[in-house]
Amino acid sequence: MSMDKRILLAKLLRLIRLLGPSARLFVEGLEKALEDGDVSALYHYSTMIKRDTYLERPRPRWPGFFKHCRGKHYELPEPLRASGMDALEAIRRRRSRRSYSSSPLSLEEVATLLYYGVGITGWDNEWPLRSYPCAGGLQPVEAYLVAENAEDLPPGLYHYEPDTHRLCLMRRGRYLGELAEICLGQEHVAEAPAAIILTAMYQRTASKYHAKAYRYIHVDTGAVVENIYIVAEALGLATVVIGAFYDQELCKLLGIDCYTEIPVAVMPTGHRAEI
Ligand SMILES: Cc1cc2nc3c(=O)[nH]c(=O)nc-3n(C[C@H](O)[C@H](O)[C@H](O)COP(=O)(O)O)c2cc1C
Repeated sequence: MSMDKRILLAKLLRLIRLLGPSARLFVEGLEKALEDGDVSALYHYSTMIKRDTYLERPRPRWPGFFKHCRGKHYELPEPLRASGMDALEAIRRRRSRRSYSSSPLSLEEVATLLYYGVGITGWDNEWPLRSYPCAGGLQPVEAYLVAENAEDLPPGLYHYEPDTHRLCLMRRGRYLGELAEICLGQEHVAEAPAAIILTAMYQRTASKYHAKAYRYIHVDTGAVVENIYIVAEALGLATVVIGAFYDQELCKLLGIDCYTEIPVAVMPTGHRAEI
């Protein structure tokens, strides 16, 4: 950048700072982003909580706790109440496992993974309480199931509805091969009998926390990921969390816009390959 342009930019940034505390954080982030060539600094600084800026910005409307689809619904059985392995042992044994046997997932296993992953475990009057902690109790995580070899479920793409503990069939078909391609060609995805896809409804959390919500929804989804890992471990299943995927292609598969609903993780799941 020429000296003239640098001077002009410095003057502009000084002016922006005058707009108030949020603008000052924005400028700090912009300066850091330019210095390091890393755009995340702009977001990171702009969403820092400072005493005089916290929650001062306008926020989106609350979109509601639940998302529903109009396809055929499949009742899920009661999730298992116990696995025979205690929580401490399941945490100690947990590993990312990427090979699967050819046996199908049972509907009870599907129900147990989804329920303990994102399910409703209680109510506080009209307010659902979930298996995972989440910022403000705002419950941004949605779970989808891509099933190819699950008992009593035709191959297809499903959405889990925690309020009724049912699966809604969004589209019939075999999508694990396409999903593997979307996950940068990770073949183990295509070899699993099913995969859980986790997304976050940004506006649920942003309705309270504005742009800071983009940080929180990833923390919240990480808690769901760990729930699913621990349940898989306790049931003797294999799973792994995948964060490497072509975002827009995954959004197209799920029929979501990639902005109000953001894909965060893919978790292929199945019985472990015999060693
Ligand atoms: C955010 C995130 C993204 C990940 N993405 C992938 C992935 O794309 N493919 C994969 O095989 N494993 C992925 N993993 C799993 C890690 O490779 C794994 O957790 C790590 O190697 C530690 O092994 P462990 O889970 O067995 O302890 C990811 C893990 C995290 C937390």
